[in-house]
Amino acid sequence: MPPGAHSPGDWSPNAFSMAALKILIIPGSLRNGSHSAKLAMAAAYEFAQADVEVTRISLADFPLPIYDGDLQARSGVPINAVNLKRMIGAHHGVLIVTPEYNSSVPALVKNTIDWITRVQDPHETRGQVFRDKPFAIAAASQSRLGGIRALAALRLILSACHATVIPNQLALSFADEAYDDMDRLKKEADIEAMKGLVRQLIEVSQRMM
Ligand SMILES: Cc1cc2nc3c(=O)[nH]c(=O)nc-3n(C[C@H](O)[C@H](O)[C@H](O)COP(=O)(O)O)c2cc1C
Repeated sequence: MPPGAHSPGDWSPNAFSMAALKILIIPGSLRNGSHSAKLAMAAAYEFAQADVEVTRISLADFPLPIYDGDLQARSGVPINAVNLKRMIGAHHGVLIVTPEYNSSVPALVKNTIDWITRVQDPHETRGQVFRDKPFAIAAASQSRLGGIRALAALRLILSACHATVIPNQLALSFADEAYDDMDRLKKEADIEAMKGLVRQLIEVSQRMM
C-alpha cells in the first residue's frame, strides 16, 4: 500500500477526515452568466478532481433584506441567514467568489456576511462559525486588475470576523475572455492559480478539521 494510504478497515481519525472533506463555494453575484459564478464552477471542478465533496450554492436561494437593527429587534435574524450560517458550519472550508463593485465587495456579499455575524446558535459565541474554518477568496472582473480591490476588502471583512483567510487568492483578469465555450478556464496561468488556491484551501481545511 502506498505511504499515507488507508485500508478500508482503517477508521483512524485521519483516514476518516481525509475522505470526508467538505468545501462550500459561495458566488457573490446573482446575475445570469456571472463571471464569478463561472469561476465558482471552475473551482468546484478542481475540488472534485481532488475528491473533495463540494456544495456550490447561489445566494438567490437565500434572499435577505438589507441589515436593519430594528428589523432584527422586531423579527430576529432571518431564517436564510441562520441556514447559511449552519451551512458554513457543516463544511470544513469556504470559498467566496466575488465580483468587484466600485473598488470593493458588492452589497450582496457584505450584507450576507453582516447577517451571518448576527446569528447566535445555542452553546456558541456569536461569529464562532468564522473562527472554526478557513476561508479562501477569489474574484472575477473584465478589467486587468481582476477584482483585486474587492479581494482586499473581503479579506479585511473576513479577518475582522476572526476568520482564517488563506494567503493564496485568485483575481481573474479579463474574465470575459477567460473561459472556453464549456465555461472552463482556458489560460494556463489562470488554471494554475486556481489549482494553487484549491490545494491550499484543502491543506488548511484538513489541518483545521
Ligand atoms: C455597480 C458596479 C460597479 C462596478 N465596479 C467595478 C470595479 O470597481 N472594478 C471592476 O473591475 N469592475 C467593476 N464592475 C464591473 C463588474 O466587475 C462586472 O459587472 C462583473 O461582470 C460583475 O460580476 P459578475 O459577472 O460575477 O456578475 C462594476 C459593475 C457594477 C454593476
